[in-house]
Amino acid sequence: MEHTLSYFLSLTLLASLISISISFTPRDNYLISCGSDENSTVDNRIFVGDATNPKFIFLSTGKSISLTNPNPPPNSSSLYNTARVFKTLSTYGFRMKKTGIVLVRFHFSPFNSTSYNLSSAVFSVSVNGYSLFHDFSASNLLLREFILNIDSDKLDIAFAPEGESGFGFVNAIEVFSAPDNLILDNGVKLLNSNGVEEYNNLSSRILESVHRINVGGLKLTPFNDTLWRTWIPDGDYLVLKSAAKKVATTNIPNYPPGGSTREIAPDNVYMTAQEMNRDNLSTLLDFNITWDFPVQDHVQHLVRLHFCDIISIGLNQLYFNVYINGLMAYKDLDLSTLTLHLLAAPYYADSVVDTDNLRAIQISVGPSSLSNTFRKNALLNGVEIMKIVSSEMIASGSKRKNFWVVIVSVLGGVVVLCFIIVAVILSCRKRKQKLKLAESAGGWTQLGARGGSSYSRMTERMLSASPGMNSLKIPFAEVQLATTNFDRSLIIGSGGFGMVYKGVLKDNTKVAVKRGVPGSRQGLPEFQTEITVLSKIRHRHLVSLVGYCEEQSEMILVYEYIEKGPLKKHLYGSGMPPLSWKQRLDICIGAARGLHYLHTGFAQGIIHRDIKSTNILLDENYVAKVSDFGLSRSGPCLNESHVSTGVKGSFGYLDPEYFRRQQLTDKSDVYSFGVVLFEVLCARPAVDPLLSREQVNLAEWALEWQRQDMLEEIIDPHLRGEIKPSSLKKFAETAQKCLAECGLDRPTMGDVLWNLEYALQIQDNEVRREMREDDSAYMPELPTSRAIPRGPCNVGVQGDKSDENLGISTCQVFSQLLTNEGR
Ligand SMILES: *[C@@H]1O[C@H](CO)[C@@H](O)[C@H](O)[C@H]1NC(C)=O
Ligand SMILES: *[C@@H]1O[C@H](CO)[C@@H](O)[C@H](O)[C@H]1NC(C)=O
Ligand SMILES: *[C@@H]1O[C@H](CO)[C@@H](O)[C@H](O)[C@H]1NC(C)=O
Ligand SMILES: *[C@@H]1O[C@H](CO)[C@@H](O)[C@H](O)[C@H]1NC(C)=O
Ligand SMILES: *[C@@H]1O[C@H](CO)[C@@H](O)[C@H](O)[C@H]1NC(C)=O
Ligand SMILES: *[C@@H]1O[C@H](CO)[C@@H](O)[C@H](O)[C@H]1NC(C)=O
Ligand SMILES: *[C@@H]1O[C@H](CO)[C@@H](O)[C@H](O)[C@H]1NC(C)=O
Ligand SMILES: *[C@@H]1O[C@H](CO)[C@@H](O)[C@H](O)[C@H]1NC(C)=O
Repeated sequence: MEHTLSYFLSLTLLASLISISISFTPRDNYLISCGSDENSTVDNRIFVGDATNPKFIFLSTGKSISLTNPNPPPNSSSLYNTARVFKTLSTYGFRMKKTGIVLVRFHFSPFNSTSYNLSSAVFSVSVNGYSLFHDFSASNLLLREFILNIDSDKLDIAFAPEGESGFGFVNAIEVFSAPDNLILDNGVKLLNSNGVEEYNNLSSRILESVHRINVGGLKLTPFNDTLWRTWIPDGDYLVLKSAAKKVATTNIPNYPPGGSTREIAPDNVYMTAQEMNRDNLSTLLDFNITWDFPVQDHVQHLVRLHFCDIISIGLNQLYFNVYINGLMAYKDLDLSTLTLHLLAAPYYADSVVDTDNLRAIQISVGPSSLSNTFRKNALLNGVEIMKIVSSEMIASGSKRKNFWVVIVSVLGGVVVLCFIIVAVILSCRKRKQKLKLAESAGGWTQLGARGGSSYSRMTERMLSASPGMNSLKIPFAEVQLATTNFDRSLIIGSGGFGMVYKGVLKDNTKVAVKRGVPGSRQGLPEFQTEITVLSKIRHRHLVSLVGYCEEQSEMILVYEYIEKGPLKKHLYGSGMPPLSWKQRLDICIGAARGLHYLHTGFAQGIIHRDIKSTNILLDENYVAKVSDFGLSRSGPCLNESHVSTGVKGSFGYLDPEYFRRQQLTDKSDVYSFGVVLFEVLCARPAVDPLLSREQVNLAEWALEWQRQDMLEEIIDPHLRGEIKPSSLKKFAETAQKCLAECGLDRPTMGDVLWNLEYALQIQDNEVRREMREDDSAYMPELPTSRAIPRGPCNVGVQGDKSDENLGISTCQVFSQLLTNEGR
């Protein structure tokens, strides 16, 4: 479980535009190893033996027995060495905490034992009275997966023997909740020869997965997928192999807000595709890439196609058509428009098709007539085909249905359901983890993002742990008064946490009131972190907490009001008068000082985790104040060299090393700060998806110009002629070092501060001989970076011809000061 989680974290680079949190934990999660008195662990998931403990009986049954394979094949999963054999109608009953979309999987692996030849079993299976399949027999290993939408708190799975065999069997069962957006009702097309209509009520159908294909890619195992699905390559289904050519990217897809998610399909599906193969063909020739997928005839199927434009280098370059069974399903598809002007952003499209007499579904992609003549192309990243287990079948077999309903309801009364084993174990584990983290000073794991009751306990703990915090409590009524009952006209911002209002307290203090979405417990961990962190620190360059309110399920933080708002607003996009170079340096120095204090000045060090130009505020005198500690974590502490939690932060500012290793260190803040430095210099956003691909990411773009020693070409035009070249050089080198690939190569905030002050002094033309007293704490540290082998981090380290500057010893800095003096 934890392993899977961390695996996915490592896959995750840029996940969403705003903040990233990757952990899907099913609310209900029942994994049963049938007929076994032992638990089996498969892909880090524990399947509980259903013969284990009478207390945890899932099964109410006429007659069933546990069967063990007398000759288990070598290397076969222990899950398949036992089975439960049903001699009469038998039901597994699951109590569901959450209604909505549920995945149900049955594992069948027939084996031969003294008394039963499982290959000869014939039986039917139904869920809550709805028939899933009947007259079924398995001749080899088979996994059948169903997606259902349940509206009751019970899920009863009934097995009924049919025919002469007189018995049924199953080796393992999975029942777990899926995200409700996995199957949505709207936007589904019904395609048939009469044309295109809207298909209604998709989510209320029972679906059975038939094909799940990672087009152009490798096989993905349950280990690679947050919903433990298996995706297989498309090669066997290609009609003409030479028409297609595999493409792959190493960049993690940009999941667009409100669009596809990792639970819809994992990154790896979107990172590979097939495109038109023009190796031996003229660029002018039109052709399709076509796949045939065998399916059952006379049944409706849901066809879900996954796309991610990993081949274009700019927006609006790729237009193509998609055909299903020869019918135009999507004409002139332009992915960049559908994904809100993001490149390489996942998109999926659902259509329902009638198969009539066909025994295959044919999918083709080909260029659109809107394509640029020399850029004709088409692509496909993934395909899922699901059979719609039709409701007509239930209606026409109404006798059977009634039979089931009677049997199931009679049995239902008898069945005692009580399985929370898995849930209990998981939640115990989580709690333990939480306590551990909380003990290390206000650390909150985002694993705790569920389960309201444990939060309240934690809050009490924390409140009692930090005396003085109660004095910061502000009654809700007072907050209401201060903000004229959260008047919309007083909104000054919004973020992941909720709205920010301007307000005035009774004593006339101007405040910024940050209100979590009422009633939602989302963001509570951040809320509580922020209280603990902020209540303990006071610094000229950090926004102070005035108080907080936690009443009536409200989560409200009250800060001092910072008059001129976010730095970003003063840099670009709002028509504010441009800041002078000196002002900018002062602001960067102030922010660096605030961060340096966070890293070194507080008991164990705090990592901000979300440094960006909107989190640096300016007061009436343009003094920088770092705000938004919602994501703060206690930094390296005690025996731990890093803190490993869910990756959080903002797009464009995120430390790549933090992604790769999920090791949070104060150097991640240094990276983000480097991005801010370039933002200040170039007056453009950290990420601008409207620009061409090489310009989208400011850090990459600026580093490229810096490497070519031409950075002055891209600086804010307002600064031209104002910056002294030596000041620019120092500043740019500092920013560049902050963006070093490897955390060890980055300077500390203390070094950064020192260098920025130096850049200011060069600009001022007065190089001071001594450091100011309050800077004594900011002495650059001894160079750690050069001595330590860097391993994989070596890649992409900038070719630095200059020497001096960051990560060097104190005397070197002094000598630098001396040699530059008197210029
Ligand atoms: C199997 O797991 C359940 C819950 O995870 C536990 O209660 C039970 O003791 C385990 N059984 C064995 C044999 O390990
Ligand atoms: C079982 O696995 C081992 C090591 O993974 C391998 O050497 C062996 O050939 C496998 N045996 C079979 C029958 O697949
Ligand atoms: C199947 O099991 C029966 C009873 O143990 C045995 O007689 C028979 O030979 C087995 N067949 C195979 C193919 O293993
Ligand atoms: C088991 O049953 C299947 C289907 O009836 C049959 O083909 C197979 O030969 C049987 N195997 C044994 C070992 O009896
Ligand atoms: C199916 O859709 C119709 C409208 O098209 C609606 O009236 C009905 O309630 C829906 N049924 C379900 C089960 O959602
Ligand atoms: C999928 O997971 C397996 C481990 O089960 C791993 O070896 C493989 O590299 C992963 N594939 C991808 C594409 O990440
Ligand atoms: C393209 O042509 C070359 C030589 O004519 C051949 O070796 C190669 O296999 C062809 N490639 C494809 C994809 O057909
Ligand atoms: C692509 O397939 C569609 C549907 O089968 C067909 O109408 C179209 O003519 C094909 N395009 C080309 C260029 O072959």
